[in-house]
Amino acid sequence: MHFVPPARGPLQGRLRVPGDKSVTHRALLFSVLADASCRVRSRLRAEDTDRSLAAVRALGVRVDGPDDDLLLTPAAVPAPGAAPDNAPVLDLDCGNSGTTTRLLLGLLAGRRVRARLDGDASLRSRPMARVVDPLRAMGARIRYLEQEGRLPLEITGAALTGADHVLAVPSAQVKSALLLAGLTAAGPTSVTGGGGSRDHTERLLRAMGADLHGDAAADRWTIRPAAPLRPYDLDVPGDPSSAAFLLAAAALVPGSEVRVENVLTNPSRCGFADVWPGGLSREDDPAPAAEPVGAFTARAGLLDAKHVGGAVVPALIDEVPVLAVLAARARGATRFADCADLRHKESDRIAATAAGLRALGVRVDTHDDGLTVHGEPDGFPAAGPVRVTTHGDHRIAMAFAVAGLASRGGVELDDAACVAVSYPDFFRDLDGLQAPRSG
Ligand code: S3P
Repeated sequence: MHFVPPARGPLQGRLRVPGDKSVTHRALLFSVLADASCRVRSRLRAEDTDRSLAAVRALGVRVDGPDDDLLLTPAAVPAPGAAPDNAPVLDLDCGNSGTTTRLLLGLLAGRRVRARLDGDASLRSRPMARVVDPLRAMGARIRYLEQEGRLPLEITGAALTGADHVLAVPSAQVKSALLLAGLTAAGPTSVTGGGGSRDHTERLLRAMGADLHGDAAADRWTIRPAAPLRPYDLDVPGDPSSAAFLLAAAALVPGSEVRVENVLTNPSRCGFADVWPGGLSREDDPAPAAEPVGAFTARAGLLDAKHVGGAVVPALIDEVPVLAVLAARARGATRFADCADLRHKESDRIAATAAGLRALGVRVDTHDDGLTVHGEPDGFPAAGPVRVTTHGDHRIAMAFAVAGLASRGGVELDDAACVAVSYPDFFRDLDGLQAPRSG
C-alpha cells in the first residue's frame, strides 16, 4: 500500500530521468552479436533491464566495470547454427519483461543453445504466439511447456531460413525478434508492418554494420545474415516514457513548471508530445548522436481534449495511461482509439486505467480498441482518498500517483513496488519536485 497525498504546492525544478528502457535492453542484449567489447553508459538500472543483463551473462557475455559504465565482452556466446537435442538447458528468467523475452527468442532461435524462458504471473499471461509463429515459419524450434501461446517455453537453436513477414500488430518487440533471427538465417528476412513502432533495433543494428535495408516510410525492413557485428559505445539517454509522468504531474498541479533534460527524443517514442493537451515545449540538443536527445518543459494550465488514434499510436503506446489521466482533467472528451494492444501489456491497461479514473469520479467509456475519457477540468470529482489497483503494472502505478498529486483527497495505490520495473526512484524524484515538507 502506498498513499500519494495531494501536492503540497506547485512542482518546480529541472531533472534527469533514468536511462531509456528500450534502448538499455538492446544495448545489453546485442552485445551477444558483437565481435569485441561493447561499452554502455547510463543504462537503466531497474528490474526489467536487469533481466536482460542476467540473460546475456548466462549466454557467455563477461560484464565488467562500474554499474553506470559497463563493458560487455562476448567471451563465449553461442555461435549461429543448430543446437544438439541433448544440449544442456539454460534457464532464463525474464521476470516481468516482455522485451527481454521476445528479443531473446529472436536472438536464440538460430544459435547453438537450448534455453527455457519463463517469467512472473503477468508475463506468463501475455501472448507469445505473435513472435513464436513467425519464428517457427523460419524453422525455429520452440515448445510451449504448459499452455499453448504462453510462457514457459523451451527454445532449441535451429537452422533458420529467411522469410517475408507481415506483422499483424505494429510491435517493435516482434519486429526486433524477427530481424535478430534474420541475422542467423539463410537468405534475406523481411519485416513489413512495424508501422511507426520504435526503431531502436534498426538504429543499433545499422550502427553495428548489419546488412539491414529499408526505411520507416516504406515500413519494410530487410536483413541479411552477417558475420559478427561491430561493437558499440553508447550513452543511453533518459527515458521519455518515464519523463512523461513527471511532465504530466507538472501539467496538473497549479503553478508548476518542470523541465526534464537529456531525454531521448526519437520520434517513434515521443508521440505523447503531439497529443499533449496543454503547455509542453521541447528543445533538441544540437550534438548528433545515434539517438536524438533533448529537453521537455511542462507547465500547468488549461488542458484541451485531443483525439488520440491512428498512426501516432505506436509512438505513444506506453503513455496512454498517463495521457488518460491528463485527459480526465481536460475540457471535452478524449477518445483513445486504435490501442487494442494495451489489453496485452503488463496488465489490461484499458481496464486498469478506466477503473482508476472511475474511482476518481471520472466518467469513462471503454471500447475494444481503447477508451473515451470525459474530462473534469475543475478537478477530479472524488472528495476523499481513493483506492486504485495497479495490477502490479508500473505504468498504472505511476499514472495514478500523478493523479494522486492532483486529487482532492489523495490516491492509495495497492502496490507501488512495481515502479522498480522501469523507474525505481520515481517516488523520490516526484517528491523532490515539491517544496520541502514543513516541520
Ligand atoms: C517495447 C515495445 C512495445 C512497448 C514496450 C517496449 C520495446 O511493446 O510497449 O514497453 O522495447 O520494443 P510492443 O512491441 O509489444 O508494442
